[in-house]
Amino acid sequence: MNQDIKEILLTEEQIAEKVKELGAVLSDEYRGKNPLVICVLKGAVVFMADLLRHMDIPCEMDFMAVSSYGSGTESSGMVKILKDLDTSAEDRHVLVVEDIMDSGLTLSRLMELLRHRRAASVKVVTLLNKPERRKVDISPDYSGFTIPDEFVVGYGLDYAEKYRNLPFIGVLKPEVYSS
Ligand code: XMP
Ligand code: MG
Repeated sequence: MNQDIKEILLTEEQIAEKVKELGAVLSDEYRGKNPLVICVLKGAVVFMADLLRHMDIPCEMDFMAVSSYGSGTESSGMVKILKDLDTSAEDRHVLVVEDIMDSGLTLSRLMELLRHRRAASVKVVTLLNKPERRKVDISPDYSGFTIPDEFVVGYGLDYAEKYRNLPFIGVLKPEVYSS
């Protein structure tokens, strides 16, 4: 295990099982709809790659990068598009893939934007959900795990761009933040 990790919250095996389950559910949901599956960079990239391989239906993928305006660790609710879609979302069944839903501000803005672009439908699948931290009235359409309010890393999630490559999801040691 990485020396900076205090505790493993979700093992590689637990994640793999859940992602397979979600893939089966989403395949049934989107069969015949050729969904546009959107990965929110960078955190969702590992989840997206695994999830897509469990979706045994025709689908397309695209990527978006957004950042919250404002400083500090709290989302401000304004999203700035750093990288937009290559594909038009108009009349498409859009599935947004996220690593974690926290305050919910980023996703609520993103979904508003995609609806404004006249997508046929917009749903969100998030691997992790932290409902305790919610600031807006939003909940994921599909969610892997509900987790407590702790800062987690691994399987795509970072602290200062590190730990994204860990195959599990873990809680960082407090001294990593304060050093
Ligand atoms: P919202 O707008 O829902 O933002 O507050 C969600 C985004 O915040 C980041 N985030 C985390 N990243 N470990 C991380 O590595 C966490 O525990 C965590 N909680 C929130 C993440 O980028 C997500 O997309
Ligand atoms: Mg992040």
